[in-house]
Amino acid sequence: MQNNAPIGIFDSGVGGTSIWREIHQLLPLEQTIYLADSKYAPYGEKTKDEIVELSIKNTEKLISLGAKVIIVACNTATTNAIKHLRANYTLPIIAIEPAIKPAALNTKTKAVGILATQGTLNSELFTQTSELYARDIDIIEVFGKGLVPEIEAGRQDGKEVERLLKLYLKPMLDKNIDYLVLGCSHYPYLIPKLKELLPKTVTIIDSGLAVARQTKAVLEHYNLSAISPQPAPIFYTNSDNLEPLRQIVNTDEKRYSIHYLDF
Ligand code: SIN
Repeated sequence: MQNNAPIGIFDSGVGGTSIWREIHQLLPLEQTIYLADSKYAPYGEKTKDEIVELSIKNTEKLISLGAKVIIVACNTATTNAIKHLRANYTLPIIAIEPAIKPAALNTKTKAVGILATQGTLNSELFTQTSELYARDIDIIEVFGKGLVPEIEAGRQDGKEVERLLKLYLKPMLDKNIDYLVLGCSHYPYLIPKLKELLPKTVTIIDSGLAVARQTKAVLEHYNLSAISPQPAPIFYTNSDNLEPLRQIVNTDEKRYSIHYLDF
């Protein structure tokens, strides 16, 4: 039955599990299948055509695994490929977008920092959103070069991440930002380190909960919500090294199934 089919989620790697976690918490009956496209990470410095091609590959794999909806848990894939995916597939496709709107509406200092990949910052969708909501606000956009590979390698608490973040936050703090928007689904794993480095006056916004709420609304709208508890989440990665995904997903209480898959 389609209601009990899984929700399919993909990202360029392990980062989108920050979105998966919110979905799993809000919709515990639902089964989720997560694809970590780590073999091709990072997406952020690829061309638009390459990102579209990878997004098609992931979407088709999730459809072949029985997904009833697709969550694009990757900002770079959303900003570059969402139009193409929505135009070419009939199942609902939910996307993650940088939360510029709430930051722009609430900033008191009129300065908002955005940390994202180059692919997201250069995209048409990002430029349009930023022009729409943040016209009278100073937006300090910084490309978080090098952060995704560190997180993919499980080094989100490491010295290199700290060095990079200090460098990237400086121009934002110089402009007195009071909101920092995380424009990449990998970056919520940096929140503990960001909290150490940022003054308390800066609010960090990520989009995980908003995506989970949107998923719930879409399932209800299409009458696709699971009607009984479904099997535990499944994670697939096309990297030979399953360890980063294992570390990020499994907790002491719960151990989910994680497999290698060639996609
Ligand atoms: C990347 O693969 O470069 C980051 C993915 C994202 O934008 O969320």
